[in-house]
Amino acid sequence: MSLDVEKPRPTLQTDSRESSQTVFRRNDFELITGQSNPGLASQIAEILEHKLDSPITLFKDGEVDVKISRNLRRKHAVLIQSTSPPHVNDYYMELFMMVDAARRASADEITAVLPYFGYSRKDRKDQPRVALSASAVANILVGLGVDRVLTVDIHAEQAQGYILQPWDNLHASYALVPRIAPQVDKNNLVIIAPDFGAATRARKYAAAFGLLAIGMVYKERDVKPNSKSNSMFFIGDVKDKDVVIVDDILNTGSTMCDGATMLEANGARRIFAAVTHGVFSDDALERISASPIQKVYVTDSINQREEVRNHPKIEIVSLAPLLAEAIQRVHTGEGLTSLFQH
Ligand code: R5P
Repeated sequence: MSLDVEKPRPTLQTDSRESSQTVFRRNDFELITGQSNPGLASQIAEILEHKLDSPITLFKDGEVDVKISRNLRRKHAVLIQSTSPPHVNDYYMELFMMVDAARRASADEITAVLPYFGYSRKDRKDQPRVALSASAVANILVGLGVDRVLTVDIHAEQAQGYILQPWDNLHASYALVPRIAPQVDKNNLVIIAPDFGAATRARKYAAAFGLLAIGMVYKERDVKPNSKSNSMFFIGDVKDKDVVIVDDILNTGSTMCDGATMLEANGARRIFAAVTHGVFSDDALERISASPIQKVYVTDSINQREEVRNHPKIEIVSLAPLLAEAIQRVHTGEGLTSLFQH
């Protein structure tokens, strides 16, 4: 009886320093999106010159159905989904089903790209018997098979510690600062944190503008969800200066607009806002109209409704180039550090 001798397998290797699997992965990823933000996902696909699969439909009873159209065996599946209000729960369910489908289709690696990460504000146990929702959804994703998470300005960067898997958090300032810079007097500019938690973000923006000066509006807020700011104080000097108030989320707009009113009272010349995630709930649009803010620059992490897109004081800046670059680098194994530098 003769023994079968295994023939050498053909290899895709082109560089002796890289394994054949690395080379294989470089050329082989699939972009898949849910229904939350088709415009942003299409732009990312266009930049990457890659096909985009939209595998979600709904059954008549509203349950999510998913059928990925291309073979995923030994491929890197990149799932793009903003789990954004007002359909945050539906969008999470779509994402969960896509992860499950990708894992069962033998994807080699699954990256979940969440330009908006829903539930991110519930990031600590600040009262007895409450859920740590941000941790819960992150752990569901990992439990289903996600290998890596990519977000933009997650509410608290410590959230990355909820899971053991790699979690890259990009900064929207990379997209927003180049758009705002030509509109402001950079020699006479102060970056403002609209609350205590935003101070680190304000410092990063200031560095991106090449500034040292930041100011801060300090608010004391009721602990109830969506409660309005109670009392406000201001630290800094904005007299006759341009100011940019920076925040990760604009929800009802109270924080931003109350801050702007305070800055106006302190003599600010022109007031701009830079926002990563525009939720625009409640009467946020009316509030912005009535405020002294000249322009709110906000990213497209959330697919905006018509009246937001047409609002005269709101300008939407796309995250697609930043996310496309990050996805490409995650896929090829290049570093992301340069995406954090301006
Ligand atoms: C709070 O910690 C966040 O960073 C935002 O400042 C907050 O979510 C904004 O909410 P609103 O627009 O309702 O004042």
